[in-house]
Amino acid sequence: MKGVILAGGLGSRLFPLTKITNKHLLPIYNKPMIYYPIETLVEADVDEIMIVTGGNFAGDFLQLLGNGSEFGLHDIHYTYQVGEGGIAAALSLTEHFVDRDRVIVILGDNILEKGIRPYAEKYRQQEKGARILLKEVKDPKRFGVPEIQGERIVAIEEKPSNPKSNYAVTGIYMYDEMVWDVIKTLKPSARNELEITDVNNAYINNSVLRYDILEGWWTDAGTFDSLLQANNLVAEKAKKS
Ligand code: G1P
Repeated sequence: MKGVILAGGLGSRLFPLTKITNKHLLPIYNKPMIYYPIETLVEADVDEIMIVTGGNFAGDFLQLLGNGSEFGLHDIHYTYQVGEGGIAAALSLTEHFVDRDRVIVILGDNILEKGIRPYAEKYRQQEKGARILLKEVKDPKRFGVPEIQGERIVAIEEKPSNPKSNYAVTGIYMYDEMVWDVIKTLKPSARNELEITDVNNAYINNSVLRYDILEGWWTDAGTFDSLLQANNLVAEKAKKS
């Protein structure tokens, strides 16, 4: 199984912090943000990793991470996104790298208390389709939100004004090779992006989307408040261990 980390975007919600660097290079307590998704993948036994970045500071990733020896990797693959087109557009750039393999995609600003190893293991056993991770949150309107009936997700809405549950779809997605055909059918959303939520809804419509509820805390770090929260949570965890 391959791993893809999406670390592009302009980080405009964090301006001016992101005026002279990429969001994913900002500090989360004692490490740059990008370290956390790499560690999450490595801990789940994924050691072939591609980072998608973009903007003016892409070269800094190579300077910081090199070939990933700090993480026990032989190398790290990089690709470059021109402009912004949404999560699904960024993912499409990695098709040739993932090839016919399966892939775990993680948004570069998603930070977790615990690993994803048990869920990756379940996905390795899953016959086909996709697997996503949900987490109960106080402010579901900020996220992709699932409508759950019994054991199944029947639909996901992106940033709904009337959320159908208190769960967020976290930025950790596991896909089989169907994902590339799905992405090619997507149309830009109202915010002019190819939405990952539309990819997940296509898997739902094919009855091949499974989910787990993530254990431990989870946060993104793309706004001032969530960046501060991520720093505080990681600092508390570091002091406990
Ligand atoms: C994105 C996804 C959303 C998901 C979130 C998780 O939101 O579109 O479905 O819940 O990541 O971090 P964005 O960061 O683009 O607002």
